[in-house]
Amino acid sequence: MKKEKLKELIGQMTLEEKASFCSGEDFWHTQGLPRLGIPAVMVSDGPHGLRKQDESADHLGLNGSIPAVCFPAGCGLAASFNRQLIQEMGKTLGQECQAEGVSVILGPAVNIKRSPLCGRNFEYYSEDPLVASEMAGALIEGVQSKNVGTSIKHFLANNQETRRMSCSSQVDERALREIYLAAFEGAVTKKKPWTVMCSYNRINGVYAAENKKYLTDVLRREWGFDGYVMSDWGAVNDRVADLEAGLDLEMPSSMGLNDKLIVEAVRNGTLKEETVDQAVERILNIVFRFEENRDKNAVFDRDKDHEQAKQVAEETIVLLKNEDNILPFSENKKIAFIGEFAEKPRYQGGGSSHINSHRVVSALKAARDNTNIIYAKGYLAEQEETDGQLLMQAVQAAKEADGAVIFAGLPDSFESEGFDRTHMSMPECQNKLIEEIARVQPNVVVVLHNGSPVEMPWISRVKGVLEAYLGGQAVGSAAYDILFGKVNPSAKLPETFPVKLEDNPSYLNFPGEKDIVAYKEGIFVGYRYYDKKKMDVLFPFGHGLSYTAFEYSHLKLDSHRIKDTDKLKVSLDVTNTGNRAGKEIVQIYVSDKESTVIRPVKELREFAKVELQPGETKTVSFTLDKRAFAYYNTQIHDWHVESGDFAVMAGRSSRDIVLSEDVYVESTVTIPVHFTTDSTLGDVMENPGARQIVEKLFAESAFGGGQKEEETSPDTVAASDGMMEAMMRYMPLRGILSFGGEAAIGIDQLQKLVDKLNQV
Ligand code: BGC
Repeated sequence: MKKEKLKELIGQMTLEEKASFCSGEDFWHTQGLPRLGIPAVMVSDGPHGLRKQDESADHLGLNGSIPAVCFPAGCGLAASFNRQLIQEMGKTLGQECQAEGVSVILGPAVNIKRSPLCGRNFEYYSEDPLVASEMAGALIEGVQSKNVGTSIKHFLANNQETRRMSCSSQVDERALREIYLAAFEGAVTKKKPWTVMCSYNRINGVYAAENKKYLTDVLRREWGFDGYVMSDWGAVNDRVADLEAGLDLEMPSSMGLNDKLIVEAVRNGTLKEETVDQAVERILNIVFRFEENRDKNAVFDRDKDHEQAKQVAEETIVLLKNEDNILPFSENKKIAFIGEFAEKPRYQGGGSSHINSHRVVSALKAARDNTNIIYAKGYLAEQEETDGQLLMQAVQAAKEADGAVIFAGLPDSFESEGFDRTHMSMPECQNKLIEEIARVQPNVVVVLHNGSPVEMPWISRVKGVLEAYLGGQAVGSAAYDILFGKVNPSAKLPETFPVKLEDNPSYLNFPGEKDIVAYKEGIFVGYRYYDKKKMDVLFPFGHGLSYTAFEYSHLKLDSHRIKDTDKLKVSLDVTNTGNRAGKEIVQIYVSDKESTVIRPVKELREFAKVELQPGETKTVSFTLDKRAFAYYNTQIHDWHVESGDFAVMAGRSSRDIVLSEDVYVESTVTIPVHFTTDSTLGDVMENPGARQIVEKLFAESAFGGGQKEEETSPDTVAASDGMMEAMMRYMPLRGILSFGGEAAIGIDQLQKLVDKLNQV
């Protein structure tokens, strides 16, 4: 609907009516106004399926919703690194929403996986903001192409469930920009989600819902967001302050309580009526965008969408280990499927994203035509302790077979919205089962169902590991097809699997003290930390194997010297050197070779998934811009590149860099200098203009070169020139007064010097 028309409609509303539009009509609907022909429209959870609730509404996934199709959760989707695939899935979700009359699907959820313990990691994409933002962007593009909105969430720095409604994430400006905001930024600026959902928590003391800095200054002014911001369910703390900060829609309904406060505030002059008008306009703009583009022919074809869920799942299962090429198995071999998850896979997480799946295919069901499969339950999913009899039966089955596949992972009770994990282990009975099976059977493969990393104390005793994540309702068929080579695995890890929990950079500060969570690791999240510390990890970020092999060659940069305003074209050839068709995820990292700023060793700046037939070579191209080389400079509050050499690296994973080429990037931005008498000589000397001035002064004064040097024999020299220079580097300018002696400059002259330095 045109802006003028919207304004006209709003002009016909009473203040009370306008206030009522600022919160939901009920749990899942925006406010309607039949007298003006304004419908109440529905929003529903997801986003890896549709959780449309008609009655008994709740935001924790406790009550039922319509039968729908459960796609792989965010953790797995990100492992596909496949934008196209996720976009297609988004189109299907959009279509499902059209068929069900849902105006906005509440996702994608892009919060960074700061700690492996966050209960909602399974919904989130990555420890890396580029991966999170790109995956979210693909989903948004797909859904919205069907004229249904998305709600990128939970904005901002909501990286744990412990005290999620009250805790304050204490994050420094650079980490916010480079990691936590960056996860949203690309998706918001490039793919324009219709809505944004703010989180429950506070950011540096201010609730997300009333955080003007992020809801208005960054989101709208800097990033150009033009939809509406809604609250997470119950995230509103002070409705009037929230409205002023840029929170348009409170969800769910406040039962009229906050509407009254809004009206009162306008009446007593503490809130401008235009602020209310603006929020209503933003909401109605989206309501009508949906209403005016309804697809009356849309159908929710669950069986068809199930097939797509299977295709997606195939690309989300990561082959972590494949010693002696144990996989794929031949269907002629007798294989024991062991573990309750073979029969009842854990394929989605708990909470508001919980889908009422219309069908679930387990690996056992997928194997029904293979008479060489035998099955033993091995353990009970919701139990920590070993069931002796189940263990014995499993060991017996493994002994009788040519190989064993153990389906293991985390039970529902370990991982969910609403609480965090307290450790990174799998249930004791499952670890024991794997150890016992490995004792009697040399060909063991473990298939993991979990939303976040687990410790694998048995890793050296098994030959194969498949990380199936929470792969959606078709996960069993996808896993079966990968195990038996009908599908070639092509996913890679969007996160690091540390050896143990204590290795994680957030370990000392997760989940914080009472309501304070200090993000003391700063920008060093995930591989940015493990790489800098040169730490061994269980499986690195970006790792994932294939049944074929890929070679990288001819990495080319279209220039070896650019300005930070230029774009750099990068290309390389990738060849499938094996004898199966496969897909490779090529990763481009950039490293600042010399920096005065503390930076990660390297950062992922681009990636692409490429499909290759045996023997085939394709050239993959990327374009890097300023952001690929920049860090966030907190002095100028902007992205900045330090002039110098950068390495552009192509890798199969963050720990398997194959090719590297250097480029010199020249900064076009001069950071204003501000020297004081406390500035060190070293800092001053780094600035070429300032250096000239100081050198001249030294040459002329007794303090430096002007002083007559005394004759010294080598053995009486207490400090070499090099040592002197090193010591001087950290001397503040005012030191010239103390150490320059009588012949040095006085206070007035020193101040003049500082003034002169500040003019360079
Ligand atoms: C969750 C959101 C969800 C909302 C509605 C909240 O508890 O944090 O992700 O969309 O409920 O169910």
